[in-house]
Amino acid sequence: ELGDYAHFMQKEIFEQPDALENTMRGRFSEDGSTAQFGGLNLNADELRNVDRIILCACGTAWHACLVTKHLIERFARLPVEVDYASEFRYRNAPLSPTNTLCLVMSQSGETIDTLAALREAKRKGLRVLAVTNVVGSTIAREADGGIYQHAGPEIGVASTKAFTSQLLIGAMLALYLARLRTMSFTDGAAAVAALRAVPALIRKTLEQAPRIAEIATRYAQVTDMLFLGRLALFPIALEGALKLKEISYIHAEGYPAAELKHGPIALISPDCPSVFFVTRGELFSKVVSSMQEVKARGGPIIAICTEGLELPEKLADARIDIPDCHEAILPLVATIPVQLLSYEIAKQRGCDVDKPRNLAKSVTVE
Ligand code: F6R
Repeated sequence: ELGDYAHFMQKEIFEQPDALENTMRGRFSEDGSTAQFGGLNLNADELRNVDRIILCACGTAWHACLVTKHLIERFARLPVEVDYASEFRYRNAPLSPTNTLCLVMSQSGETIDTLAALREAKRKGLRVLAVTNVVGSTIAREADGGIYQHAGPEIGVASTKAFTSQLLIGAMLALYLARLRTMSFTDGAAAVAALRAVPALIRKTLEQAPRIAEIATRYAQVTDMLFLGRLALFPIALEGALKLKEISYIHAEGYPAAELKHGPIALISPDCPSVFFVTRGELFSKVVSSMQEVKARGGPIIAICTEGLELPEKLADARIDIPDCHEAILPLVATIPVQLLSYEIAKQRGCDVDKPRNLAKSVTVE
């Protein structure tokens, strides 16, 4: 089943172009300006009346919710909150059932905390949608409607293709909600074109695997690592840190880059590399100045950077290029290098990549 791959995680990383093709299949409107979903069980008018969305999930899926929040707020201008499912189930959030929609994300569809959050939201009268990868799973069955990921079975304990397919659905949902509100045909068509290009862009990014393996050899023995990104790339910083700690047992943390100076900068040393997401756009110069603060304190820098983007000389110790792309898909494309980096580091440390210690693929007990 592994074919030419050394681990399921590696296979699943490289399967992403196909998995995402499957996630998108049949889900764009004929006029090519929006997404469409068969199983929401909510009509356009009902969705237009939604004025607040609550997203609940655990772990990696929670990171996908953070990106989805960013995209829905950015494109549909709808307020979105993100909760850890384990907290939502107990914190008794004030809810107004009429116009609030709850959406849970769970690859397995069996995570007990996410199921409990779904049940709690339903008990309070909310409509609950679910994004899951497993057809007929408990969460899929109990939700009022939902979207299947169609990413194919994921064997590796550390989630890869299931995560990017959740990001893809989040982007498509943001587009769909935006087109029911204020987004123009032209902007919608540009987003659809960008989404359709995802498999090709990921294929291109995966070509950097050998280079990333070489970078990994330089940092495989460190004990700490920071991941720093801004806006929609902050959740990808969290995801990079989670992947690395799960499979390599290196202590890692993700932060919005500007938070460095509020504490984590104390950790910076030659033994603590920082992975920065640095892309074209409004916050470019701010990220560069965060990088300079790290550099000034002797911290090694790995820059995950838009191709062609010029960085100050000698700022990055290692650079991994990602293609320039539409902001709806940037988090997705930027995920690939951190998956490969953590995979390569874990492999070089001799870790059991597919079955990391203390972890289970699906957490069905509280
Ligand atoms: C990390 C990972 C976990 C899961 C979490 C939720 O790589 O896989 O953090 O994302 O346990 O699982 P699901 O999505 O099945 O609810």
